[in-house]
Amino acid sequence: MEYRRLGRSGLQVSLLSFGSWVSFHKQIDDSIADELMGIAYDHGVNFFDNAEVYALGKSEEMMGRVLKKKKWDRTSYIVSSKAYFGWRGKENKPNQHGLSRKHLIEACNEALQRLQVDYLDLYFCHRPDKNVPIEEVVWTMNHLIQQGKILYWGTSEWSGVEIMEAHRVAQAYRLIGPTMEQPEYNIFNRHKMENEYLEVFKNVGLGTTIWSPLASGLLTGKYNDGIPEGTRLAIPGFEWLKDRTLVEEKVKSVRAYHQVAHEMGVSMAALSIAWCINNPNVSTAILGATRKEQLLENLKALEVLPKVDDSIMQRIDEIFGTKPRLPEY
Ligand SMILES: NC(=O)c1ccc[n+]([C@@H]2O[C@H](COP(=O)([O-])OP(=O)(O)OC[C@H]3O[C@@H](n4cnc5c(N)ncnc54)[C@H](OP(=O)(O)O)[C@@H]3O)[C@@H](O)[C@H]2O)c1
Repeated sequence: MEYRRLGRSGLQVSLLSFGSWVSFHKQIDDSIADELMGIAYDHGVNFFDNAEVYALGKSEEMMGRVLKKKKWDRTSYIVSSKAYFGWRGKENKPNQHGLSRKHLIEACNEALQRLQVDYLDLYFCHRPDKNVPIEEVVWTMNHLIQQGKILYWGTSEWSGVEIMEAHRVAQAYRLIGPTMEQPEYNIFNRHKMENEYLEVFKNVGLGTTIWSPLASGLLTGKYNDGIPEGTRLAIPGFEWLKDRTLVEEKVKSVRAYHQVAHEMGVSMAALSIAWCINNPNVSTAILGATRKEQLLENLKALEVLPKVDDSIMQRIDEIFGTKPRLPEY
């Protein structure tokens, strides 16, 4: 395993990490979660990602039970939670979601209980909240750090401007700004990581914990001929994700991409993850898996990484046509 610094912080995070969105509680039970987290940890994964909203709290509870059973040294791993969406779904009352001081503190306390840990290593604002002053968010996160309940705070799917605004406020009050951002980054979705955040990386040194490196599985080629039973895009309630992901043009590109992986003698899954971590601004790519075979295949991305040279990158750019255009001046 390779470890990278999380932005300008001193925290070392494994280049591949493991997350629980969709899979924990909805698709897999405690025994599979235990097996997958064990495989990840044994391969050097030191970061496990979670959020209050995943399976409406049940995902954190499941991860908490596994962590308790594993009895790993608490100093050897990093665990996260994220607040914003709340965990009551449609029943959320006004202060049971969002980024107010009230919800951030209550969600943190609840995550600690569900995960059965004394502190969160990483705590994310799962989305920006236009109804809360940024000063309130920055002060609250620093309050939680002072209390020892969280160690680092960050954002997810914030714009570059919003992240810089949080840093401006932090600097004004001599507080700690966001250490990391959790953006989607895969061959289809490159704008933030390769364009919008460039100045943020340069000026404040943002760490990044990448989500959906496989675009929910699309980049493995598994949806090339329809939707296999038991896969994410077949789950009732995830039609919105299916509509967003299974676009004919995208599937066509993935079919052409197959040839690149084939010629390299690697899987599309491992190549897609290697493509993602080839970006030096990626601190860690969070893997998702519902089966042992998937996770073992995805971990091979570390072996594929040295093979991802300029010619491979160029072929991928040509097939997908998703490389952001930067201004020429
Ligand atoms: N901050 C945010 O807003 C946000 C949003 C989304 C996710 N996340 C985080 O990022 C993590 C990873 O995201 P993700 O789960 O969407 O990642 P992903 O890598 O894009 O998709 C993972 C899914 O693809 C399928 N898959 C994985 N490896 C495969 C393989 N080798 N062959 C065939 N199918 C394979 C599995 O689903 P099936 O077996 O069901 O097909 C697996 O659950 C999440 O767990 C979560 O922690 C954060």
